[in-house]
Amino acid sequence: MGSSRLSGTFISFEGPDGAGKTSALQAITTQIKPVLGDQLVITREPGGNPISESIRAIILDRANTAMDYRTEALLYAAARRQHLAQTILPALAADKLVLCDRYVDSSVAYQGAGRQIGEDAVAQMNTFATDGLLPALTVYFDVPAEIGLRRIQAHRDPQKVDRLDVEQAAFHDRVRAAYLRLQAAHPDRIKLIDATQNRETVVTTALTLIKQAAQNYFD
Ligand SMILES: Nc1ncnc2c1ncn2[C@@H]1O[C@H](COP(=O)(O)OP(=O)(O)O)[C@@H](O)[C@H]1O
Ligand SMILES: [Mg+2]
Repeated sequence: MGSSRLSGTFISFEGPDGAGKTSALQAITTQIKPVLGDQLVITREPGGNPISESIRAIILDRANTAMDYRTEALLYAAARRQHLAQTILPALAADKLVLCDRYVDSSVAYQGAGRQIGEDAVAQMNTFATDGLLPALTVYFDVPAEIGLRRIQAHRDPQKVDRLDVEQAAFHDRVRAAYLRLQAAHPDRIKLIDATQNRETVVTTALTLIKQAAQNYFD
């Protein structure tokens, strides 16, 4: 693995849509930015670089109805690689604490299990894309799919709240099951938080895990 010279600490946030990753990341940033200053790097895929953004636009383009699931997985991995090369690796080389909203486990869960192209295959492809670089800690926000979806839909047309079709629910159930398998397979890296708890408890728990994994930044 090419990460041995990297002196920073890399942490990812994972979990289904609506689990509370982004809002927890914001709350944590508010708390620790005054202490860490430029030592703290908050990022998310595709990471804001032009190449990853262009790849992302191809994935999301509604005109691309012919997109094959493996093509989609390869494009996500390509966008991830570029974000890693342009943002994460330079930050780690400069001794920063990097908190990233989603990373490889999202692809294993969503493409591998959700799209059913194979969790191992997607993991292997991402090992190539990342040169095996994994976070020191992955904070996994665990919620049943329907709770996450309900949180997201709470801000939309209330008439649409209960209109989750069966296929969509099954997709999200596969995603969560895959996350739980990943956590069970990598218990030292992936720490589960019960994200059905109130925001304050979730944020406090996540911050405690981060301080344990990145102790030297908080001395
Ligand atoms: N612990 C919580 N309890 C209730 N609602 C929450 C909680 N955490 C986040 N939310 C709300 O759920 C919605 C989705 O949160 P968000 O942080 O965007 O999730 P994610 O980034 O995981 O998709 C937002 O409206 C957010 O305010
Ligand atoms: Mg989010």
